[in-house]
Amino acid sequence: MNIPLEDNASDIIGKAQRGLGIPDSKLAERAGVSADAVRSLRSGGSDVAAAEKVASVLKLNASALSKLAAGKWNPETIAPVDGLAQFNTTYHDMTVNAYLVWDPATRDAVAFDTGADCSEMLLRIDREKLSIRLILLTHAHPDHVADLRRLRQATDAPVYISELEPEEGAELIAEGKRFKAGSLKIEARLTSGHSPGGITYVVTGLARPIAIVGDSLFAGSMGGGNVSYQDALRNNREKILTLPDETIVCPGHGPLTTVGKEKRDNPFFAGGI
Ligand SMILES: [Fe+2]
Repeated sequence: MNIPLEDNASDIIGKAQRGLGIPDSKLAERAGVSADAVRSLRSGGSDVAAAEKVASVLKLNASALSKLAAGKWNPETIAPVDGLAQFNTTYHDMTVNAYLVWDPATRDAVAFDTGADCSEMLLRIDREKLSIRLILLTHAHPDHVADLRRLRQATDAPVYISELEPEEGAELIAEGKRFKAGSLKIEARLTSGHSPGGITYVVTGLARPIAIVGDSLFAGSMGGGNVSYQDALRNNREKILTLPDETIVCPGHGPLTTVGKEKRDNPFFAGGI
């Protein structure tokens, strides 16, 4: 499945402006570009020279941002990993990802979020003869947990979420909580900033390490820092981008990526690690 990038250069500029509190007029002034150039970038324009100038004011990596502005930011091609599946469903005007991870030998499995509709996930569980041992939620935003009641009823598995984002029927966990399912080992890391209790689940036991990151980090971008832009940046830097480069990053929106790719090419992080 080929999912488009979640954010383009104008989305990223907007997230950085909101995070740093820099309105369009200030951005133009500080970057030494015209108000028109900023307006054009904000509405999807591909003025690479202007993108490079605003990047330094917004503490973004200039070459990564201009690659995005020029439409030349290509997601990494990731070979399928036995025991990992992504489900992309439509929620109002957006699409959202949920994931299954399983031990290929024992078929013990974990569901991460539900997406808008867990039908495809349930079909896959059936087809692969999986036993769902856990339902782990990255955060409580409605697009990620929309079908929780049905997934719970169908699997009878316990549900966990951060203690900072209680959800009906879910047990509450704190950073550092560990889980096991078959040979899979899972560690919860608090990657708040987009939401108050955003959790990244680091899974080991498959051919490559996997990080289910919710909306903390996207291929080429990150979730908006609605709660704290600085926390979002710091948590991504310290708790996701410190994982091995080959770690597959499974975001709540947009395509899969890797830690190595985001360290090289994510405008929020490239060059600053
Ligand atoms: Fe979210």
